[in-house]
Amino acid sequence: MILDTTTITSKTGKEFQLVSIGPDDAERFLDFMHQVSCDTHFMSRYGDEVKQDDAAIQAEKTRLKTLQDSDIQGMFSIIDGDRIIGNIAVRQVCNHRKTAHRCNIGLGIRKEYHGFGLGTILVDHAINFAKKSGYKIMELGVLSDNIIALGLYNKMGFTEWGRLPEAFILDDGTPIDEITMYRKL
Ligand SMILES: CC(C)(COP(=O)(O)OP(=O)(O)OC[C@H]1O[C@@H](n2cnc3c(N)ncnc32)[C@H](O)[C@@H]1OP(=O)(O)O)[C@@H](O)C(=O)NCCC(=O)NCCS
Repeated sequence: MILDTTTITSKTGKEFQLVSIGPDDAERFLDFMHQVSCDTHFMSRYGDEVKQDDAAIQAEKTRLKTLQDSDIQGMFSIIDGDRIIGNIAVRQVCNHRKTAHRCNIGLGIRKEYHGFGLGTILVDHAINFAKKSGYKIMELGVLSDNIIALGLYNKMGFTEWGRLPEAFILDDGTPIDEITMYRKL
């Protein structure tokens, strides 16, 4: 889905553009994902697993085109200059009729922009988009040691409904549980 670009203002008073991204943004999206995945262990991949070669760019273009072409799914990014500095994905869990009312979200912000209120703006934007798209439930997974994200999701009205023990095992052997949360829309 392509929504009109809007101007948002962070807690620091700085203005950014909030845009819908698509296949033409594949390279800068992978650059963003690479940094966020290097910054923390909270993303699903390590930074070195986010490839930026031609094959990875082509695969990302395909994925972004699918999301852009969908009326009920989207990738929404915050832009500073030419760079993507934050992103939230809204995807349908499954398009079968019994579960078509459920969407999930995934988000990240580059480390140097944390604490500016941008995560809050992205989740709020995703909730509004999901409501307009007809979803009834929004879901997400978050690592149990991701205190800031847990605080953000609690603030935005999400409720914990499950926990998968040792969902992640870091390279150094540290196991981390994943908490699953939902919010009625
Ligand atoms: C999680 C993340 C998206 C938050 O983005 P952000 O722009 O820093 O978030 P915001 O500034 O909008 O909001 C921060 C909220 O987190 C919560 N929070 C912050 N510090 C907290 C703490 N020490 N304890 C509990 N909650 C805390 C608060 O609810 C706060 O909102 P408030 O300032 O209105 O009180 C960002 O930290 C990030 O990208 N982290 C790395 C990737 C990641 O973890 N992604 C989520 C995977 S599930």
